[in-house]
Amino acid sequence: MFKPETIERFKGIETPFYYYNMDVLRQTLDACRDASAKHNFHVHYAMKANFNPKVVEAVQRYGFGADCVSGNEVKAAIAGGFDKGKVVFAGVGKSDKEINLALDADIFCFNVESIQELEIINELAQAKNKVAGVAIRINPNVDAHTHHFITTGLDENKFGINTWQLQDVAETLRKCTNLKFLGIHFHIGSQITDMEVYKNLCTRINDMQDWFENHGFAIKVLNAGGGLGVDYYNPDTNTIPDFESYFSVFRKFLRVKPGQEVHFELGRALVAQSASLISRVLYVKIGQKKNFLILDAGMTELMRPMLYQAYHSIENLSRKSEVGKSESPEDGASSQVLNYDVVGPICESTDCFRKDVELPESQRGDLIAVRTAGAYGEVMASNYNLRDAVPSVYSV
Ligand code: LLP
Repeated sequence: MFKPETIERFKGIETPFYYYNMDVLRQTLDACRDASAKHNFHVHYAMKANFNPKVVEAVQRYGFGADCVSGNEVKAAIAGGFDKGKVVFAGVGKSDKEINLALDADIFCFNVESIQELEIINELAQAKNKVAGVAIRINPNVDAHTHHFITTGLDENKFGINTWQLQDVAETLRKCTNLKFLGIHFHIGSQITDMEVYKNLCTRINDMQDWFENHGFAIKVLNAGGGLGVDYYNPDTNTIPDFESYFSVFRKFLRVKPGQEVHFELGRALVAQSASLISRVLYVKIGQKKNFLILDAGMTELMRPMLYQAYHSIENLSRKSEVGKSESPEDGASSQVLNYDVVGPICESTDCFRKDVELPESQRGDLIAVRTAGAYGEVMASNYNLRDAVPSVYSV
């Protein structure tokens, strides 16, 4: 929900831009901290969701750790204020340069995704006379019931080590003297809203704990990854994700022994609702079959709809909002509702935010908000078509 003074402020700003509501961000972080603290769970922020320095600054204040997937993310997390002792580094393709950088930074743990990677980290650590903390990322073959492009925990996915390779993992760990085995890591996918999925994950984690312990490995860290979804359909009424229910599933179904730590890597749930992409209508094309609203933002600014057919709520802030939703101050009582394909300016047919969006009759210059764009939005922007970088604006 945008306050009238916020919309007034937007009128003086060149579009497109990302608008961050820092109050929503803080309320979300408060809720996550409170819900996780109840169970003594450790939360790492998945930097990949949004590494905007202002966002990173706000998140690190909560004492969370950082989950990184590149050397640059490791650098940005530490420079942004995260404690290096709470930095984890995941990813199927860590380069030698990135591993060395993380070793030099003395991060907490590498989440390792293949046997070969274990050997390389050991070799590089040995050269530096260091011992690297490692957790084994296991592919648990649990269906996340989410879009197949953002499912990661099935046998067919490239992520993690399959359970049939664990014997080799154990042998490798035994001979790699510059590795310290810390525990096991899982991440089965993103935008998961069905809590049953996490219950199934807990069962698999419990089985894997048994396996490692039966083979003589003590587990200190159980890392369940991230993936908690948000409500893209109701950004105003369901703004804060249900962290309570999420963590409760793990409290109930995950077997945790004294001295063990339970870790999570949340990205989307922490930041998605805090930002919107704000753009203006450049042109309105009224056709015989279709009407098009052509915005000054497109797939170069927000890629999710084009890449994953992802739904984002779209509002005309200069008029009445999307039918059935809130109304803006300039609401024209007589305004007619039309059906539009809301598209961007990029030279690709897929450059469409959504088809058949019911919006009040719109005009050139109207301000359009694409909501719930704080996660995997700005960070996935590109300069295809030699577009300008998209700037960010923050609530005061
Ligand atoms: N941990 C690992 C190992 C991951 O790969 C990811 C996300 C996370 C944690 C954080 O997941 P989250 O809590 O944000 O769901 N670009 C896609 C999402 C890709 C997610 C990649 N991995 C999208 O826009 O939907």
